[in-house]
Amino acid sequence: MTDKKAYLSVDGLDEKIEMPVYSGSTGPDVVDVRGLTAQGYFTYDPGFVSTASCESKITYIDGDNGILLHRGYPIEQLAEKSDYLESCYLLLNGELPTPEQKQEFVDIITNHTMVHESMARFFRGFHHNAHPMAMMCGAVGALASFYHDSLDITNPEHRAVSAHRLIAKMPTLAAMCYKHHLGQPFMYPNNKMGYAENFLHMMFGTPCDDPEVNPVLAKAMDKIFLLHADHEQNASTSTVRLAGSSGANPFACIASGITALWGPAHGGANEAVLNMLEEIGSVDRIDEYVARAKDKSDPFRLMGFGHRVYKNFDPRAKVMKETCDEVLSELGLENDPLLAIAKRLETIALEDEYFIEKKLYPNVDFYSGIIMKAIGIPTEMFTVIFATGRTVGWIAHWAEMISGPYKIGRPRQLYTGYPKRDYPG
Ligand code: SDX
Repeated sequence: MTDKKAYLSVDGLDEKIEMPVYSGSTGPDVVDVRGLTAQGYFTYDPGFVSTASCESKITYIDGDNGILLHRGYPIEQLAEKSDYLESCYLLLNGELPTPEQKQEFVDIITNHTMVHESMARFFRGFHHNAHPMAMMCGAVGALASFYHDSLDITNPEHRAVSAHRLIAKMPTLAAMCYKHHLGQPFMYPNNKMGYAENFLHMMFGTPCDDPEVNPVLAKAMDKIFLLHADHEQNASTSTVRLAGSSGANPFACIASGITALWGPAHGGANEAVLNMLEEIGSVDRIDEYVARAKDKSDPFRLMGFGHRVYKNFDPRAKVMKETCDEVLSELGLENDPLLAIAKRLETIALEDEYFIEKKLYPNVDFYSGIIMKAIGIPTEMFTVIFATGRTVGWIAHWAEMISGPYKIGRPRQLYTGYPKRDYPG
């Protein structure tokens, strides 16, 4: 229990309202406002700028100091020393795996990579130029239709197998979106390959020609998945928690996360960054776009810049920029014109008073798109890849909530509509 208290005095109230204050292991204290309803008040926080929606042990972000910890481990160290599946184990279980635990986890995931053959017919129902995120929203929600034997969310084994199935099948479904768009045959996963290598094999291999995956590109892809794995209570993770709080099955909850991620203010930003760089077209047009981003009358924003929490650099963007340089040099694309525009845009923005004053720095989405484009991934697939990496974070938060006491999420409102009035006549 806490001995810290907060007090709210309201004009017209004789007594101050006392509220408990809780401290976490690190980060800001929270004021427990749940007692306010009994006093006839709601808190008001559109966009949840100052609201802690839950208690969690999974990820910690210090936005002022550019710190991102997964179960206490800094993202820079995980990006350098770990890999995506090991980080998945860490996010799900709270500790890094022993070598035996890691091998067992990799084997489990590897043996869940195939999807039911009926999913092929599901994809063929989409128009060939359907946006891949539209296909993913449908396909992931539809996965529940194959697993009626293991959807009891109160059963820890059902929760575990659903987590494994989702982490394992996301790359397979993502590649099926791309293949359907191309009109090429779907590629089956190859259980002899690593997670990211298998994804690139399913994306770019064909039954007629299945070249070896470039290990530098596979490593970059694995790092992109890792850097997107989790990020505290962002919009899509909060959506997954809210959907899960009604008792919905994990496939439906992850599908809800995919829909929330799609927006250009969130996971859709990587696609929007590439479109923006291509629209800018050359370094000598950057000033025009920076001016537009600062113009309040212009809805244009510099995509890939700014963040609700990071008011300093996004530690993921730094790692992503290093990976970008590695991939482009491996592919002999150091002079990629989009990279030149991106680097010049970053320099100009970071020196501009507006961006300095508003603390707008490149975020995770600013360089990821350039890497994915260099690998050969089409722009409209970028957010699908973000969703693939983030699935473990969504599932970890869903499981953390469902495995303990929780209530259905049901916010209230400030009502400014008509008071009660009678129907005329
Ligand atoms: C992700 O939450 C997460 O953790 C998300 C994420 C994750 O891993 O899950 O990190 C992934 O979503 C990264 C963000 C990707 N989005 C973009 O790159 C889109 C461009 N950025 C923005 O639209 C914006 O910065 C947000 C949405 C990211 C953050 O918006 P906030 O916190 O609501 O901030 P705001 O819109 O109130 O902006 C504060 C000020 C405003 O100016 P004023 O009204 O105070 O005068 O900064 C301005 C904004 O106009 N501003 C920008 C800007 N971002 C904010 N101005 C120009 N260009 C921008 N990119």
